[in-house]
Amino acid sequence: MNYYAAPMEGLTDRVWRQAHQKWFGPAGNADRYYAPFISPPENRVLIKKKMAELAPAANPGAPVIPQLLAKDGELAAWMIGELRGLGYTEVNLNLGCPSGTVTAKGKGSGMLRDPVKLDAFLAAVFANAEGPISVKTRLGVEKPEEFAAILDIYNRYPICELTIHPRVMRQLYRGQADRAAFAASLPGCRMPVCYNGDVTTAADLHTLEAQYPQLSGIMVGRGLIADPALFREARDGAPAAREELRGYLDDLYHGYSELFGSAGCAVSRMKGHWFYLIHKFEGAEKLEKQLRKVREPWEYEVVVNQIFTLPFRP
Ligand SMILES: Cc1cc2nc3c(=O)[nH]c(=O)nc-3n(C[C@H](O)[C@H](O)[C@H](O)COP(=O)(O)O)c2cc1C
Repeated sequence: MNYYAAPMEGLTDRVWRQAHQKWFGPAGNADRYYAPFISPPENRVLIKKKMAELAPAANPGAPVIPQLLAKDGELAAWMIGELRGLGYTEVNLNLGCPSGTVTAKGKGSGMLRDPVKLDAFLAAVFANAEGPISVKTRLGVEKPEEFAAILDIYNRYPICELTIHPRVMRQLYRGQADRAAFAASLPGCRMPVCYNGDVTTAADLHTLEAQYPQLSGIMVGRGLIADPALFREARDGAPAAREELRGYLDDLYHGYSELFGSAGCAVSRMKGHWFYLIHKFEGAEKLEKQLRKVREPWEYEVVVNQIFTLPFRP
């Protein structure tokens, strides 16, 4: 089974992809790292800073799959051409993002509102772009029953892989991924399918593999930030050691400081990682509160040193 790292804006950037492979690879590598979405610029002039995330020289190692957030199919196809020019093969289309600012513009899972527009978007993408194109989707906007009509449209196109996150747009990340609705939709999918949602342990990965051996992959997001050794454990390797986690977090912090040219900006990026990772430490509630408040790099470093004195949950 392929294990994929989910695209997560603000978390799974190029600094993270490198630190993850350095400290938990090769046994714990994701088979593919899906990059957080980029939007194709309407004036068709690439933004240097955004493209730096996808520079092949900054992304050695396991394959990276760029992701596009777009609603204009021809523009998306143009951007796919640009990405192919950089050497990327597969490009992923984001039809799942539930954020209000995205869906209000009819993008992300906002695309699932209108099957006619969705069909026209995919028709324009596939008519104007070459090479493998995958899709990441939710089940619908309001209720999972919408998925039958959405899938009917996906099935018309040569989508190389469909990643299904079985929540609806309105749910954001609330409640649980609807695995029953996912199972019900599987027989109707004419393309390879990847499951995504709420996987946090190696045991859960194995359960899904046993339940759905026909899947082409399982994608993990928050669970992999919370436990960066998750894929290694699922492949019968060791859980994360305290020293590995320390090295990994230090690399992230220094990598972000260099990338942003400011340790202060790195601190706020690190808070995003710690939000999920803090659970590796027992009795960290008080320090977690302090960590949320720190602003200065020295304050951050002091609190992190204190966290690392706590009992560790491998
Ligand atoms: C902070 C954050 C940022 C995300 N950014 C993206 C993104 O750029 N593209 C995307 O397709 N999904 C994005 N997602 C959704 C994840 O890829 C994934 O579908 C979701 O977290 C459910 O999987 P999980 O339960 O394994 O985390 C994001 C989720 C979070 C929490």
